[in-house]
Amino acid sequence: MTDKNSVLFRPFDVKTLHMKNRIVMAPMTRDFSPKGVPGANVVEYYRKRAAGGVGLIVTEGTTIDHPAASGSDNYPRFHGDALDGWAKVVEAVHAEGGLIAPQLWHLGMMRNPKQVFNPDVPSVGPSGLKVPGKRSGHTLTDSEIGDIIAAFAKGAADAKRLGFDAAEFHGAHGYLIDQFFWDGTNERTDKWGGDLVARGRFGVEIVKAARAAVGPDFPLIIRLSQWKQQDFTKRLANSPAEWEAFVLPFVDAGIDIFHCSTRRFWEPEFEGSDLNLAGWTKKVTGKPTITVGSVSLGGSDDFIAAFAGQGAEIAAIDSLVERMERGEFDLVAIGRALLANPDWSNVVKNGRFADLKAYSKDVLVELV
Ligand code: FNR
Repeated sequence: MTDKNSVLFRPFDVKTLHMKNRIVMAPMTRDFSPKGVPGANVVEYYRKRAAGGVGLIVTEGTTIDHPAASGSDNYPRFHGDALDGWAKVVEAVHAEGGLIAPQLWHLGMMRNPKQVFNPDVPSVGPSGLKVPGKRSGHTLTDSEIGDIIAAFAKGAADAKRLGFDAAEFHGAHGYLIDQFFWDGTNERTDKWGGDLVARGRFGVEIVKAARAAVGPDFPLIIRLSQWKQQDFTKRLANSPAEWEAFVLPFVDAGIDIFHCSTRRFWEPEFEGSDLNLAGWTKKVTGKPTITVGSVSLGGSDDFIAAFAGQGAEIAAIDSLVERMERGEFDLVAIGRALLANPDWSNVVKNGRFADLKAYSKDVLVELV
């Protein structure tokens, strides 16, 4: 039974990151930062989640200092004037006893050129492909790739300078870093393309450059997913051995935590084992991992299908806790339920499941 004594509410340390519990707020794009600058409403939004007891906040994707990084004038940037806004977010979260990491983001070919952020700048990718076979953007040159790696590293260094507690790289869901990983969008024949390990090089070089910029102690996280929003059925690796070969270079480069994005945390990643992606990643790297995906949806269809019957919320969280107790993964990220319930962590800690509000898309209309 989940209560304040459960593993969910035990501290967890990674280098200088001292989490009071195992609960992470999942990164969620919110589009409420005019001209890319997070204002008072964004400060209040994160302050509330910190006050609600979450162990670590990973911010919405915030775009690195590159002209083609963002897809909207309202996505928060992580450069220029936006940094003052972020400093206020950090201060407010810390005042509530919370911890926070920015999710550093480059949309690559997933940028919508019709949106207002630098509309004259072409979208960029490893092969100018948004989806396999359809060239619609600029193929990055070697020196342009170097500039983007440097911009990610600068983002991590700025995170440290502003007092953030860690930095996360968005290497998932079909955005720029993942466009390098996926053979559907990376057709390069130079050192940035080839087999899965070679396609991983761009991400690995980002981690190396960031590690050099922040020093040995500042925690670095990378978010990875097998699925791509361009095609939810696609996979990077078909076996644990392929996944291991892909992720180990990130460990050598200096990553501290793998954030393994799946849509339903209970689904086994490879045949022949119950382990999910976070489970496999921890097993093959020995590094802490975060699991995520429909852990708490307050009665959505997904959720009920998986955990039918009375007390579905409790059943799912109990199954999560059991797997965490076994050491399959160390941390859990909660997304949509934290939009509907800023105090999700405190509610679950006190066993007040009946107080959880169901998530619906209505909660996206405003920043609350
Ligand atoms: C997301 N997600 C997401 N992921 C990410 O890595 N960066 C992002 O900026 C976003 N943006 C985003 C916006 C919104 C509105 C939602 C609902 C989701 C995915 C998110 O982090 C998480 O992985 C999923 O929502 C699954 O977790 P839950 O919601 O089932 O707990």
